Amino acid sequence: MLTQRISQIKPSPTLAIDAKAKSMLAQGIDIVNFGIGEPDFETPENIKEAAIKAIRDGFTRYTPAGGVLALKEAIVEKFKRDNDLNYRPEEIIVSCGGKHALYNLFQVLFEKGDEVIVPSPYWVSYPPMVMLAEAAPVIVPTPEANGFKLTPEVLRAHITPRTKGLILNSPSNPTGSVYTRSELAALAEVILDHKLFVVSDDIYEKILFDGLEFFNLAQLDPELKKLVFVLNGVSKTYAMTGWRIGYLAGDARVIKAVTNLQSQSTSNPCSIAQKAALEAINGPQDAVAAMVQEFAWRRDDILTRVARIPGLKCVKPGGAFYVFPNFSYYYNKIKPDGQGSYSDPLADFLLEEAHVALVAGIGFGEDACLRFSYATSRERIATGLARIEAALQKLG
Ligand SMILES: Cc1ncc(COP(=O)(O)O)c(C=O)c1O
Repeated sequence: MLTQRISQIKPSPTLAIDAKAKSMLAQGIDIVNFGIGEPDFETPENIKEAAIKAIRDGFTRYTPAGGVLALKEAIVEKFKRDNDLNYRPEEIIVSCGGKHALYNLFQVLFEKGDEVIVPSPYWVSYPPMVMLAEAAPVIVPTPEANGFKLTPEVLRAHITPRTKGLILNSPSNPTGSVYTRSELAALAEVILDHKLFVVSDDIYEKILFDGLEFFNLAQLDPELKKLVFVLNGVSKTYAMTGWRIGYLAGDARVIKAVTNLQSQSTSNPCSIAQKAALEAINGPQDAVAAMVQEFAWRRDDILTRVARIPGLKCVKPGGAFYVFPNFSYYYNKIKPDGQGSYSDPLADFLLEEAHVALVAGIGFGEDACLRFSYATSRERIATGLARIEAALQKLG
């Protein structure tokens, strides 16, 4: 009944663990949920008010498929202000979340016969989205010892005449790793040599710690900017995951094609959410700073607690709200599942035994690790880590 295209697509493992945790919660079980990748903060009041005003003003009809001009202009200003990047409104499209923008971009940019390099660990949706465009994801492992970051040598070694694109995500989901300017400059040489299109997923741009500076590949060189597509959105920065607004910047011809695709599929992103996003981008930014400060505290706390558990190792994340510790010390005490994964049965064990939801690393391409999203309260972090320690002790 189903097409081959869709048959190879599995449900998102991050949403799957969340569903399982929520069903246990509904049965009255006290679950500490480190599973879901969304801020636990409320959308700031000024943004909510902008949406309420949009409804009251009757801003409730179709808008242009790629988003209203005022929002595109605000995004143009944002790129100028924050990233020193100059775009025109024709080089911007607004979609129903960053995920939607990426999906559409992949449909427009990649096709059968193309290879797309996906450094691993990766965000769970990249490989299936590449496959839905009938292209082949080329998974390139990055060493834990290098903070799970791609090096120019490794990138070069995986390029073939079919390679059309590369996906970069900094700060990263699931590792929290952040590329520095010089690391990007080293990758840039290879990218320019081979004229690769780069999808730069900057969705965690604002969630950075330790005074780290955000840097985008497109900033390095005008030639490079022509090859880069920048993905960003309001979901993570402004605690607006449910509003579904993401945006994409890049070559006007590609943006036009993405707009055509959007106009024949979803049409415009929600008109009310667009007004809310406009306020998020143009309005006061102090709520972002407060949220980042709290995330920084939690990152330090969770790293301290992870370090106290025998056998666990963890790369120190510079951004996002994830830690991705290596649990392989315990793997000889866990029976692998049918696919040979250890992180999956360990995640199941921790959910059943400790009532803590983590996402198995296998879904991110790194079976040695499990992902914590610390978008939960300080008290829940302490409870969750104590439960994990006790459960792992039982494993012996
Ligand atoms: C790396 C990464 N990119 C993109 C997205 C898409 O976010 P949204 O569709 O909510 O804008 C997410 C969300 O989890 C993400 O983690």
